[in-house]
Parts: sequence; structure tokens; C-alpha cells
Amino acid sequence: MKRILITGANKGLGFEATRQLTALGHRVWLGSRDKQRGEQAAQAAAARFVPLDVTDDASVAAAAEEIRQESGGLDVLINNAGIAAFPDGAGQTDADTFRNLFEVNLFGVVRVTQACLPLLQDGRLPVVINVSSGLGSLALVSDPARPEAAYSPVAYCSSKAALNMLTVQYAKSFPEIRFAAISPELAATDLTGFRGGPVESAVSAVVAAAVAEAGPTGIFAAADGPLPW
Ligand SMILES: NC(=O)c1ccc[n+]([C@@H]2O[C@H](COP(=O)([O-])OP(=O)(O)OC[C@H]3O[C@@H](n4cnc5c(N)ncnc54)[C@H](OP(=O)(O)O)[C@@H]3O)[C@@H](O)[C@H]2O)c1
Repeated sequence: MKRILITGANKGLGFEATRQLTALGHRVWLGSRDKQRGEQAAQAAAARFVPLDVTDDASVAAAAEEIRQESGGLDVLINNAGIAAFPDGAGQTDADTFRNLFEVNLFGVVRVTQACLPLLQDGRLPVVINVSSGLGSLALVSDPARPEAAYSPVAYCSSKAALNMLTVQYAKSFPEIRFAAISPELAATDLTGFRGGPVESAVSAVVAAAVAEAGPTGIFAAADGPLPW
């Protein structure tokens, strides 16, 4: 039984990962910035609700403290909370759009990971999973043969590319914790305007990484194997 925190888990991929992991017998704290939606989702997924806005230092610190008091440590952190913006193109995307996306998709991950480091260091075979995207891969977005090349929301892609670099740097700094950037399959959620496949299969790589007892650190992968940075 692993102790797992998932951010942004009141809906979409985070909720589905929570549901699958509690069904496997793991103890999951379902992070949500909205109390009502979080409590409802936690009840539906047989998880524990924890209030958590990844853009708010006090909220993040309180969530980490609540988990410390309830369990003393954390085995898996899934940095899933994310937002997207789909303006017309690079020329139309202003600095505020970048700032908003980075606040959640990158700075949120830094905030939550830093707050959880002491818990993870007291965890068993600790792992941090950063929910990234193929759109964060410089190689895939630059390859005209790949679908990622045809569609490049610039602020979102940049935030996920930065998240990939953060994953590598954390992996180097904390060798006692495994770090993985995982790209889920395209799935029908609010974030994608409900374009894509089912959420059930899209989170398979995230769930597999969460339950793995061993593996490499500093990786970028999807369900069918490693991805190029
Ligand atoms: N869906 C895909 O095809 C796909 C593909 C590749 C990667 N991803 C990544 O997968 C992750 C989940 O995306 P999704 O598709 O499941 O999107 P989603 O259904 O829109 O869910 C996003 C979650 O993040 C939460 N969130 C947003 N801002 C937050 C904040 N400041 N603090 C805490 N939680 C916050 C949302 O909460 P609210 O309900 O309160 O807004 C929601 O629970 C994201 O990191 C996304 O980039 C998705």
C-alpha cells in the first residue's frame, strides 16, 4: 500500500488516476483547489480530500502538513494539476498568458515538490511523477512526421518543456527519490475541449509509474516507452 498525493485530481486525468490507484488498494490524497468539488470527487474515488491550490504557498504548506500528521510520509507525489491556453499562435501569445501557465504548470510543481520533499524522504521507494506532455518535447514538436509538430500552443509547450528540464534537475539533485516526466495519451478532458481518447487508458503510464517498485530516474516516457526530450 503506497501513500500517494495527486494534485488537481477533482476531475480529468487526476481523478481517473486517483480512482484506479485507490481501487488497487493504495491510500490517495486527492488534491483540489475547490472544497466542494474535491470532497465530491474524493467520495466517488474512495480517496481522502486535501485542499490544495498549487499557486498558493500557504495552501501547499497546509496540505503537506496535513499529510505529515495523517501518515508521517509520502511514497508517491503526482504533480498533475495543469492548465492550457490555445491562442492563435506565437505572435498572439502575450507574456501574461505565459505567466499564468507557468504559475500552475511549472511553479506549482516546484512549490508542491519542495513542500513534499521531507515527506518523500521519509517515504518508501519514493517517486515523483510530473504529468508532462509530448508537446513539451523539443524533438517531437520539431519533427514534421509527428502529430505534435502540427499543433504547438506555444505557452503550454514551453511550460511542459520547462517541466521536463525540472524533472531532470530534480533527479540529479535528489538521487534518493525517483523522478519521471510522464506523457499521458491525448484524452477527452476539459483541458483538451474533450478531444481525444478515454481517460481510463490515457493514465495507464502515470498509474504504472506510481505503482512501480523500481526504475530509472530523470526519465521522460509514455505508455509505450521512453520519449525523446
Ligand atoms: N488531457 C490530455 O490529453 C493531456 C495530455 C497530455 C498531458 N496532460 C496533462 O495532464 C494533466 C491533467 O490534465 P487534464 O487533461 O486532466 O485536465 P483537466 O480535466 O482540465 O484537469 C486539470 C486539473 O488541474 C486542476 N488545477 C488547475 N489549476 C489548479 C491550481 N491552481 N491548483 C490546483 N489544481 C489546479 C483543475 O482544477 P479545477 O477543476 O479547480 O480547475 C483540474 O482538477 C495536466 O498537467 C495536463 O497538462 C493532459
